[in-house]
Amino acid sequence: MSDRLLINLAILGGTGKEGQGLAYRLARAGYPILLGSRTPDKAARVADELNQRLGQASVRGMANDEAAGRCHIAILTVPYEAHRPTLEALKERLTGKVLVDVTVPLKPPKITTVYVPPAGSAAQEAQEILGPTTQVVAAFQNISHEHLVQDHPVPCDVLVCGGDDEARMQVLQLVAAVGLVGWDAGPLQNAVVVEGLSAVLIGINKRYKMRAAGIRITGEQPPR
Ligand SMILES: NC(=O)c1ccc[n+]([C@@H]2O[C@H](COP(=O)([O-])OP(=O)(O)OC[C@H]3O[C@@H](n4cnc5c(N)ncnc54)[C@H](OP(=O)(O)O)[C@@H]3O)[C@@H](O)[C@H]2O)c1
Repeated sequence: MSDRLLINLAILGGTGKEGQGLAYRLARAGYPILLGSRTPDKAARVADELNQRLGQASVRGMANDEAAGRCHIAILTVPYEAHRPTLEALKERLTGKVLVDVTVPLKPPKITTVYVPPAGSAAQEAQEILGPTTQVVAAFQNISHEHLVQDHPVPCDVLVCGGDDEARMQVLQLVAAVGLVGWDAGPLQNAVVVEGLSAVLIGINKRYKMRAAGIRITGEQPPR
């Protein structure tokens, strides 16, 4: 049996664009997915749609709190205004786990302007809310859902930041499993740059009439 089958991944707010994209790619890579929502019926409907597309029953829809309680690693994909209330509600369920924060702190309508939260970044805010028993890792903020829901190779890299070496490595394994190139981008304090890049990329999409701009690290590449 593949080791991946033993790692339950929760995607909290997984019914949205980015959550569905990550669920699709991670399920295709062999991970069981617990797709979370505020509304379990909605989660079940979206899970059914994803399973039909995947041709396998590897996504299960449920309430966010159930998904957070049953997972080994949780991935958070909610809009920034829902970030704090969602984490506060799920704090106990996430104790002892890794939380992958995909949130970009955008303040509509200024979504092409970088907003720096008081804690330094959304990921640092998450770490403050959850406390030291949960390891927050920031990742995937620069990958548009438009790439994730397709089957083509994604021409963008993923920068991974976090304070715990083992947690960062676990997330880099998830990145590699979905066919993306990940880079250890250092401590959680560096998430401010990665999150901020997303606002810059949204602006580039608008100004140049592009759809899914991303970033790629150049230079001599290490063996993978
Ligand atoms: N879209 C992208 O291409 C992309 C790329 C990189 C990063 N991101 C970041 O990923 C996060 C999710 O983006 P998205 O485009 O997937 O967002 P979205 O589709 O607008 O929302 C995602 C999910 O969040 C939940 N949600 C919405 N409002 C909420 C609220 N007030 N309280 C609790 N839950 C709420 C909803 O799930 P339920 O109704 O089922 O609970 C919704 O399906 C954002 O922080 C975004 O900046 C997005």
